[in-house]
This record gives sequence, structure tokens and C-alpha cells, in this order.
Amino acid sequence: MKITVLGAAGGIGQPLSLLLKMKLPAGFKLSLYDVSAQTPGIAVDLGHIPTDVEVKGYCGDDVAKALEGSDVVVIAAGLARKPGMHRSDLLLFNAMVMRDLMTVAAKVCPKACFCIISNPVNSMVPLASEVLKKAGVYNPQKLFGVTMLDVIRAETFVAHFVGRAAGTIRVNVIGGHSGQTILPVMSQIGGFEFTDAEAAELVAHIQNAGTEVVDAKAGGGSATLAMAAAGYRFVNAVVRGLMGEENVVECAYVEGGSQHSRFFSQPMRLGKEGWYQVLPYGPLTAPEKETLEAMLPTLREQIKLGEEFILQPEKFETPPSSDVKEPVKNRK
Ligand code: LMR
Repeated sequence: MKITVLGAAGGIGQPLSLLLKMKLPAGFKLSLYDVSAQTPGIAVDLGHIPTDVEVKGYCGDDVAKALEGSDVVVIAAGLARKPGMHRSDLLLFNAMVMRDLMTVAAKVCPKACFCIISNPVNSMVPLASEVLKKAGVYNPQKLFGVTMLDVIRAETFVAHFVGRAAGTIRVNVIGGHSGQTILPVMSQIGGFEFTDAEAAELVAHIQNAGTEVVDAKAGGGSATLAMAAAGYRFVNAVVRGLMGEENVVECAYVEGGSQHSRFFSQPMRLGKEGWYQVLPYGPLTAPEKETLEAMLPTLREQIKLGEEFILQPEKFETPPSSDVKEPVKNRK
């Protein structure tokens, strides 16, 4: 099986590639692509680690070569936020990157599973779906927005809060991946009951965790290492499903599983052809229902922006000045 990382030289791409090199099963191929000329060198560097995963690196115009024969493509390319920015401020630049990469991928490896990390995820995934549709190769079951970072944050913060060992609690996070569209389903965490105030505090922490990292990095970018760990957990789940393991369940942002919006994140079973069954997330409490209802207009608007970038590109010719306030280049 071949896994390709696009944006492999960046802050997420490098640690994610390291985790994949160290943990993928023997015999797997790992292909790294980034515009940066150092990418072949990153592959050489990883190649010195003693695992039987073959690594090759490509840069510049060689994205098609990198993608040839891919079974799973992970896209972490694009710009990251600086303090004061919203994820949506990255839309214009990252949309161009996503459109160009997905156009090549649609030709070279149309049957691959695509795992999208680049922000704003809520818009990038619909955008990718439109590129694949235009090429006549869209399979909703193989296109995923990676919302796993919210899941691992939720699992970490909740474990600390209830005094349990990290990694022993599972939390489903539904909706999307930005501010109020992130809804951790606190009421369905088995064995624990939170007061409304406790749940609200934890939810706010999880929703703001990305911004907390952006502010703490003081202009140096956004989450990279936890994102790489989350990306690895998700890609590994996709791979386990493709290899025929049964009952692999994770949350992801996909089309077709929800009555709430065209794309929505929730738990799902992953199998040999991508996701095949969206799972219920359980009854919501009144405050959770309120949060869900409140997020939907924003989520739908962000989905529409991604679709329109491909379907009505003329709308995006003149970016509003607030959309280009020097994001940093560290996600590539
Ligand atoms: C995150 O949640 O940390 C990422 O989406 C990066 C960001 O800009 O917050």
C-alpha cells in the first residue's frame, strides 16, 4: 500500500511522515511531496530509520510522480494562522493550493482515499469534492476531513478533568473543525456525568484549543505536533479499514452521513472502500442541541464557500484585504 503526504516538508508534514515511517506495516511505501526543495532530503533522512517502509521524496513540479499509485493521500499543504486570524482567513490561499493538488490527484490516483488536514477544513473538503466531481471521479466514501485533532484534545482534556489516565477515554466530536462548529458530545462519554457548567467549560476549551496554540506560538504558526499525532491516528484507521480489519471506528468530516449539512463530522466505520457506515452519536442534551443548531448556519456557509471556489471562481477574484494578513508558511 502506498501513502502519500502532500505538504510533507512543513510543520505537520514532517512529524506526520516520521510517525508513518515508524509505524506503518512492513512493505508499505511512503511518498513525500512538498514544493520545498528539501523534500527529497527529508525522505533520505527518514530512510535511515530501520523500518521496512520505503520512503521517496519529491518536490517542485513532481507532484504527479509522488501521487502515482497512491492508496491514501494526506494533504497538509498550505498556510497556518497567526494570532488574531480565523481559520477562514486562510481560505483564499489554501483553496488555490488544494484546487491545484486535487486536480493532479484526480487524474493520477482517483481511487485513493483523501484525508484533508489543511485549513479551513470545513471549506477545503467541499472544495476537494467539487474538483473530484468535475473530473468525474468523486467517491464520497473516500474523501475525509481530518477532525481528529478535536477528538484527541477532547480525550486529553476530559481525562485530565476526571483524573483518569490519558488515552483511556473516548470522546466523539461532531460538526466541523472551527470554533463553534466543534461539538464534543460530553453527554455520551460512558461512565461520567458532567454538570452543564463543567461540560460548557470543557467544550469551550476544546473549541478554543487551536487558538490557544496559535497565541502561545506567538506568530510562529499553529498546532503541528498534536496535529501530526491526530493525523497519524486517523490515517492508520483508514489503512486498517482498507486492509480489512473490522469495526474500525473514528470521527471524520464526510459527505452523506448527516441530515444537518452536506458535510458533517461524526463517528463512522471504516472499511475496504473507505467509510461505509455513519454511526449515531447518541441523544444530545438541551445545551448540546442548542450548540448544534447554532453552528449549522456557519457550517453550511463554510461548505458553500468551498463549493463556490470551484463552481463560481469569479466570486473570488478580488480577495478582501482582511483575508491576506500575512499568514505564516509552516503547514506545508
Ligand atoms: C488547530 O485546531 O489547531 C488547527 O486547525 C490549526 C489552527 O489554525 O487552529
